[in-house]
Amino acid sequence: MDKIRIIGGTPLVGSIPISGAKNAALPLMAACLLTDETLTLSNMPYLADIITMANLLAQHGVHLSMSDQTRGPNGLSLGRILSLNAANVNNLTAPYDLVRTMRASVLVLGPLLARYGAARVSLPGGCAIGTRPIDLHLKALEQMGAEIELVDGYIHAKVENRLKGADITFEKVSVGATENILMAAALAEGTTTLRNAAREPEVCDLAYCLQAMGAKISGIGCDEIIIEGVPALHGCQYSVVPDRIEAGSFAAAAAITGGDVELIGITMDIMQSVAEKFEEAGVSITETPRGLRVRRSAERIRGVDIMTQPYPGFPTDMQAQMMALLSVAEDASMVTETIFENRYMHVPELMRMNAKIIVHGSSAMIRGVPELKGAEVMATDLRASVSLVIAALAAVGETVIHRVYHLDRGYERLEEKLVRCGAQIERITSAKQPLRFEAA
Ligand code: EPZ
Repeated sequence: MDKIRIIGGTPLVGSIPISGAKNAALPLMAACLLTDETLTLSNMPYLADIITMANLLAQHGVHLSMSDQTRGPNGLSLGRILSLNAANVNNLTAPYDLVRTMRASVLVLGPLLARYGAARVSLPGGCAIGTRPIDLHLKALEQMGAEIELVDGYIHAKVENRLKGADITFEKVSVGATENILMAAALAEGTTTLRNAAREPEVCDLAYCLQAMGAKISGIGCDEIIIEGVPALHGCQYSVVPDRIEAGSFAAAAAITGGDVELIGITMDIMQSVAEKFEEAGVSITETPRGLRVRRSAERIRGVDIMTQPYPGFPTDMQAQMMALLSVAEDASMVTETIFENRYMHVPELMRMNAKIIVHGSSAMIRGVPELKGAEVMATDLRASVSLVIAALAAVGETVIHRVYHLDRGYERLEEKLVRCGAQIERITSAKQPLRFEAA
């Protein structure tokens, strides 16, 4: 297994291109199942999760092709271009071995049901940060007329003719459930109203892409979305929204090292709640013609209180990164995680680096320390792993982070982007398996 070795203490200075958002790209890829025409996605990130979704779609019979890194006229990276065509889907099963490696695989359920009237999708099972059930997805599909049985760890779903539009109120805000039902409703017979819908920019990205494919959707970005089903959708070209969580992660890295970094390709409008907390903590984030500039405005980081919430609140996917930053604040901070029940596994690892953190239930009290100390630590999940990178970049001495395959799920060329800004970071590679997928 690969490790990452970091010598801390160097302020990050320079520019970092922000990739397309993983959590937008994954549902956008699943949307290809809704049409027999080609869906072309640009600004695609090249990540392990993207490869897993590509392999999942390929085993359904989707034809995929991905370009190399593309660059704009100014030489800036424009990500990759991925073309997907589902004209010859010949398998409606999403197998356990793929679904268990990436829960977002469950996003093929809505499109398969909507287009083919049947689907057999492995239950995703839990994951490190929580049980993460999919009851809201299934209940909404049943309201649309689907018959759903759970047999041998698989969801067996089918519907006579077409799914029917329904008036659906989600008991809690769910990004994945909103996305699955947006796709299912796009081809349903009649009108679907989603209440208490998720409003994340990645959910909006999917809705805008569905509109470009011919779907009739209103209320995008609101907690009530209305979808008028259409008989068929066509292909389109769509560019993936920039990754606000990647941007926030690098902002925390710039802030903790006392650096000065321009994040290229990200916009303030989807970073508002994160930018506000950075400002409160003594980090200035200002707009530039190419993106956002991040630098520390106060001598030391100030403690702040954070409560994770559905968008537009503070994102749970930035909680671990902020905790790393706040661990060197001049005073105390309180973090409350309201979305997932077990998203503090980075805490014992940060404490190995001299952080002073106490967890009580869903809240964590962080007492800032003057400095962190390098140590051997272990990544446990995607965002926990990047919080350890952030801490290590400021820590005195050397840090070695084990199990960095978690990082590769959500951060493209992380070391390269940080080395360009002066970080002393290297990957210690075991026998590296290149990221690849067998295009069908
Ligand atoms: C998406 O996961 C993201 N993943 C997560 O990012 C993100 O943390 C999460 O949304 C919240 O913003 C992708 O987009 C691929 P949810 P998702 O359904 O859709 C409960 C990362 O690090 N729930 O909004 O699975 C659930 O247990 C990942 O990039 C139910 O109870 O999240 C959780 O407590 C981690 N029943 C809460 O709702 C359901 O049917 C929010 O989950 C569905 C969800």
